[in-house]
Amino acid sequence: MPAQLRTSQSEWEAPGRVNLIGEHTDYNEGFVLPFAIAQRTRARGRTRHDGMVRVRSTLAPDHVEFPVTTAPGDVPGWAAYPAGMVWALTGAGCLVPGADLDLDGDLPVGAGLASSAALECSVGAVLADLAGVAIDRTTIARFAQRAENDYVGMPCGLMDQLACMHSQRAHAMLIDTRSAALEPIPLPLADQGLSLIAIDTHARHALVDGEYADRRRQCESAAAALEVRSLRDAGTADLSRLVDPVLRRRARHIVTENDRVLETASLLRSGQVRRIGRLLADSHRSLRDDFQVSCRELDLAVESSLRCGAFGARMIGGGFGGSVIALVDAPHAGRLISTVKSAFAAASLPAPTAYSVVPSSGARRLS
Ligand code: GLA
Repeated sequence: MPAQLRTSQSEWEAPGRVNLIGEHTDYNEGFVLPFAIAQRTRARGRTRHDGMVRVRSTLAPDHVEFPVTTAPGDVPGWAAYPAGMVWALTGAGCLVPGADLDLDGDLPVGAGLASSAALECSVGAVLADLAGVAIDRTTIARFAQRAENDYVGMPCGLMDQLACMHSQRAHAMLIDTRSAALEPIPLPLADQGLSLIAIDTHARHALVDGEYADRRRQCESAAAALEVRSLRDAGTADLSRLVDPVLRRRARHIVTENDRVLETASLLRSGQVRRIGRLLADSHRSLRDDFQVSCRELDLAVESSLRCGAFGARMIGGGFGGSVIALVDAPHAGRLISTVKSAFAAASLPAPTAYSVVPSSGARRLS
């Protein structure tokens, strides 16, 4: 890795993301269309010379300390994400001398907004500065994925980390996760009088615990049964060759979702933002019925949004809780939010939190 001037202090911020469409396609080498949101994580680092890393977060009561030689299994809990970045960078020959890291920000954790990728990417960029190594944005994203896969133990794809590092203001990013090729596509919400509302259901998922890994394994089994490298290479005509009904449903979600991403991208390229609503709603149905990663709270948020006149709505992220997005005419956003809240109250569920999300820039150095 090329050298850059080593600094003794560095500060980066990295955003969360909303995925417009393309769910569970990233670990099938498929297409995704996320954008960064304004809410972010900030990491401030200072060099230490004793080979130790100390991390403090405004979200945790206690700081955590570990050596730069940390290995998977050493550090549990939230600090496993920064520790995983130290491990991934060190393993690639980027020698971190030791650091004091302070973390804060306004990105909700566990809301399906990729707070772990934001944490990893902000810490990774700071550590590279302190080590005096120039690492390009895609490589930081790949280190973050490695940290999450092999240190934290969550077998995620690369969407969140690439969105975090590369997003551009007022654009969604079409990502081909096979090649990591990126195409920014304008998403002119305000210009067209539209709002995209994120609704955090406060139902919390535990992705590390199994369901996500199960889906990934099922997709790999379906690809193996079809004798293709990944489900990216399968088409609808192949589905009938899958005799196992569960594998057929999982594969149908991936194949149709990839098509929906490309159709959404082409509608956006010609400025037809309202018309993507139907694809968002179809994506949710496919995630609910074929991929089976939705839950009662997500379905209720989607159904009540659609009943209230949203052009489209869908769950985002891994599923089993977290957030929904709804595309709506801006003047109707308030009414949509109160309708969804009333539906939750009527179902005796805790009140969701809703706010409008704006396509924002990716990670950046603050100092
Ligand atoms: C999580 C993972 C991503 C992706 C989504 C589902 O956010 O981190 O890699 O697989 O779930 O699309």
